[in-house]
Amino acid sequence: MKKGRVFSGARPTGRQHLGNYFGAIRNYVALQEEYDCVYCVVDLHALTSLVDTSPLREYTYEMVLDWLAAGIDPTRTIVFVQSHVPQVTELYTLLGMTTPLGWLTRLPTFKDKVREQPDNVNYGLVGYPVLMAADILLYKADAVPVGIDQAPHLEFTREIVRRFNARYGEVLVEPQMVLTEAPKILGLDGVSKMSKSLEKDNSIELADSPEDITRKVMGAVTDPARLYKKDPGHPEVCNIFTLHRLIAGDEARMDQIARDCRGATLGCVEHKRMFARELIEFLAPFREIRAKYAEHPDDVWDILRDGAARARVIASQTLDEVKRAVRLP
Ligand code: TRP
Repeated sequence: MKKGRVFSGARPTGRQHLGNYFGAIRNYVALQEEYDCVYCVVDLHALTSLVDTSPLREYTYEMVLDWLAAGIDPTRTIVFVQSHVPQVTELYTLLGMTTPLGWLTRLPTFKDKVREQPDNVNYGLVGYPVLMAADILLYKADAVPVGIDQAPHLEFTREIVRRFNARYGEVLVEPQMVLTEAPKILGLDGVSKMSKSLEKDNSIELADSPEDITRKVMGAVTDPARLYKKDPGHPEVCNIFTLHRLIAGDEARMDQIARDCRGATLGCVEHKRMFARELIEFLAPFREIRAKYAEHPDDVWDILRDGAARARVIASQTLDEVKRAVRLP
């Protein structure tokens, strides 16, 4: 018996990198063991920031391909595209009527967006958290895994539920927030967060070829204070060390590497070569499954169509309950 239902969403951003993997995907995969999971590509949310929408289809396909390759199992888990289940927009409208505008404009996430895109402060941006609440509530999720950046949105969702239920009766389910323990993954420059928007070589994508991995790792920044091999290294500030520990799964060995680095018997170039080799191996099964799926792109779209059909069954039921509670004639 499963513990309940998990829902999570991610904006379609195309090929996923190590930061996405250790920050979210790995956890999505693990949660399938104990929960009924629903994972959604939130294309409508993406529209609040995207001006050029032409890559949406490709971004969706590439991201879902990565999810499947990482171990999201579509026979157990519902994987779908947000806009394929339009009931979410109806619930979004209804939730909007009980949401005080001040709650939305006060959110730090909204203020950040206004700063990021001052020329595109659209109505959808203000409603972003309401749409996210609609995602979660439509599927009566018991638990929602999110990174710390999304915590205000989850708290907001819980407040919406309390307010809505107080007015209309116990119809919505208050979800638990499951904070994903996400190590801070920096890009290969060792300074900024790993992200795809920066110049291409700052991230390692899960689908990168062995050659690309080697090239990117060998060009990566390590301990900035260490110029020569004879200088003692500082593994605690070395991004390559952090990444290596994430994939190594052997703490004793990583402790030894840290000692060798501090004692200047292991140089950065040597360590990067070792890490690149192991990363290529770590991602090998992933590349293999991904290549199999990529041979039949239509299968990926079929999986999404099937996911949407299963999602709609749950969605229409919740929406009926909500409309009844609101006393819509
Ligand atoms: N806002 C989330 C993000 O940017 C994406 C998202 C949309 C989401 N709907 C959701 C996350 C529902 C969890 C649950 O990362």
